[in-house]
Amino acid sequence: MDELLKIREEAIRRIKEASNLKDLNSVRVSYLGKKSPIQAAMKSMKTMKQEDRASFGKISNQVKQEIAKAIEEMKANLEEAEMNARLASERIDITLPSNVVPIGSLHPISVVKDELEELFLGMGYEVAEGPEVETDIFNFQYMNLPKGHPARDMQDTFYIDENTLMRTHTSPVQAHVMLEKEGKGPIKVICPGKVYRRDDDDATHSHQFAQCEGLVIDKNITMGDLKGTLEVFAKHMFGEKREIRLRPSYFPFTEPSVEVDISCMNCGGKGCNICKGTGWIEVLGAGMVNPHVLEMCGFDPEVYQGFAFGIGLERCAMLKYGMDNIRDFFNNDLRFLEQFSRKG
Ligand code: PHE
Repeated sequence: MDELLKIREEAIRRIKEASNLKDLNSVRVSYLGKKSPIQAAMKSMKTMKQEDRASFGKISNQVKQEIAKAIEEMKANLEEAEMNARLASERIDITLPSNVVPIGSLHPISVVKDELEELFLGMGYEVAEGPEVETDIFNFQYMNLPKGHPARDMQDTFYIDENTLMRTHTSPVQAHVMLEKEGKGPIKVICPGKVYRRDDDDATHSHQFAQCEGLVIDKNITMGDLKGTLEVFAKHMFGEKREIRLRPSYFPFTEPSVEVDISCMNCGGKGCNICKGTGWIEVLGAGMVNPHVLEMCGFDPEVYQGFAFGIGLERCAMLKYGMDNIRDFFNNDLRFLEQFSRKG
């Protein structure tokens, strides 16, 4: 009997000492399992007297129950403690401010391109694209620059082979669009994209730059439509106060052709160093689509007329943002690019 009480005392102490569920389980095995001292004590019952046996059995069962109960209680305590520890270690403070993820900014050429697309889409134009690797036929011949034409000199480029080259302007997209329409107007498209020329790079020249072509073809299209359209463009891109001026020029694919100047945004037309004292700044080339180009591209020049223009995106961006070096667009200096951050 004393033995049993001793076992109970010892068991209870060891249960209390268990600091985790694993330890508690080994306590359970050693006191309630087959090889436990209680079990051993019960075996000795056989040799006891009849009257002692009953009370001994009762007590040993009681001890077993007490130990089992103490283990259950301790188990519940330990489980709760373990859960609390886990909750504490996995706790996430959702009120903590996060690390700031740097946000990139659009390249200024993309900003100008997006602005142009938005403006012209609003006037019912569609956006068309063509290949940067172009054939001689599309880049030159459809644009009324046959082989040997002197105006090809101004647009020397990188050749893939004799008849394949990096396009020198976005004008070949005009031919792609017209041929696709199979002689049926109207057409109203802008075609932004990269172009290439064999130029020596300096502050205002780059062997790769971006243009945006415009092409409108319909019945009864006049130079007045071209002028009105360019005026809307100039005011949208450079400010409401801008005026435009058309000067006679020459492009093989337009007739008549014009260079388009805008009144200087710096001095308002009085004359300053940006406009070299003239009050005007040249921004693009344009003209009425040459009837020969219409014909080559499947349109009847007796029925349809059209105008076209080609805007230099770098030139626009440089004027708009007061830049003096075209190389800044391509150096990818973050200090330059960050100025166009959407945070303003
Ligand atoms: N393609 C001409 C250039 O690159 C620009 C232009 C386009 C002129 C359309 C007239 C009409 O210089």
